[in-house]
Amino acid sequence: VAAAAAADIADKSGVAHHDIALTLGSGWGKAAELIGETTATIPATEITGFSKPALEGHVGTIRSILLPNGKRALVIGARTHYYEGHGVRRVVHSVRTAAATGAKTMILTNGAGGIKETWTPGTPVLISDHINLTGDSPLEGATFVDLTDLYAQRLRDIAHRVDPSLDEGVYCQFRGPHYETPAEVQMAKTIGGHIVGMSTALEAIAARQAGMEVLGMSLITNLAAGIQATPLSHEEVIEAGRAAEATISRLLASIIAEL
Ligand code: 6GU
Repeated sequence: VAAAAAADIADKSGVAHHDIALTLGSGWGKAAELIGETTATIPATEITGFSKPALEGHVGTIRSILLPNGKRALVIGARTHYYEGHGVRRVVHSVRTAAATGAKTMILTNGAGGIKETWTPGTPVLISDHINLTGDSPLEGATFVDLTDLYAQRLRDIAHRVDPSLDEGVYCQFRGPHYETPAEVQMAKTIGGHIVGMSTALEAIAARQAGMEVLGMSLITNLAAGIQATPLSHEEVIEAGRAAEATISRLLASIIAEL
């Protein structure tokens, strides 16, 4: 299915090979305009295996972008979340498609909740590792894939050089779509988590299986339940994303320029 999707992209974009791929989560959408020249924008619905966009803040398009250094980026603005219930294969289809276009680097971004009180809404954080709490895996059968250095230290070093103030944290993927209870957030903290969200970990596993190097970044849109006193709302998350979008998109563009 991924090979067919990659063929669709080659067909409709006129670009047969991409070097890097980015999945833009909530708050990261503007990065696409900043990293280079968009030469093709394809509605995800025209590509094999992609489902309709489910959520506000998630543009359902796949773009081919020519970077200033001559490399090609595939920008995925159509994420299928695990909580949509279509199964894990649909969730990682975009990552496998990116790999099938030739991409060797997978940049995964998301909007997420912070467990560290010092992270104010709008703070971008590098993902250093993850804890997959979905109970699921994109791998089937006896596929024993090593996940050491999944979020490549090499890429994190580049990001730190671009912005020395960037913090790092361990991302916990919950199934969602409800936010966590305060007790679940305490559990995440106790087991070594710093960020809570509903994406990315399953995609990172698929990217590693496909042999790609992964860079993960979260935009902290709010503190997690029980860490912040006020109830969480989806509107708050979207609004924090909008407010930080320009800044974090510039940051991401600067990092990509160094890859
Ligand atoms: Cl607090 N939790 C999860 N799972 N996802 C989020 C979030 C929290 N805030 C933004 N996205």
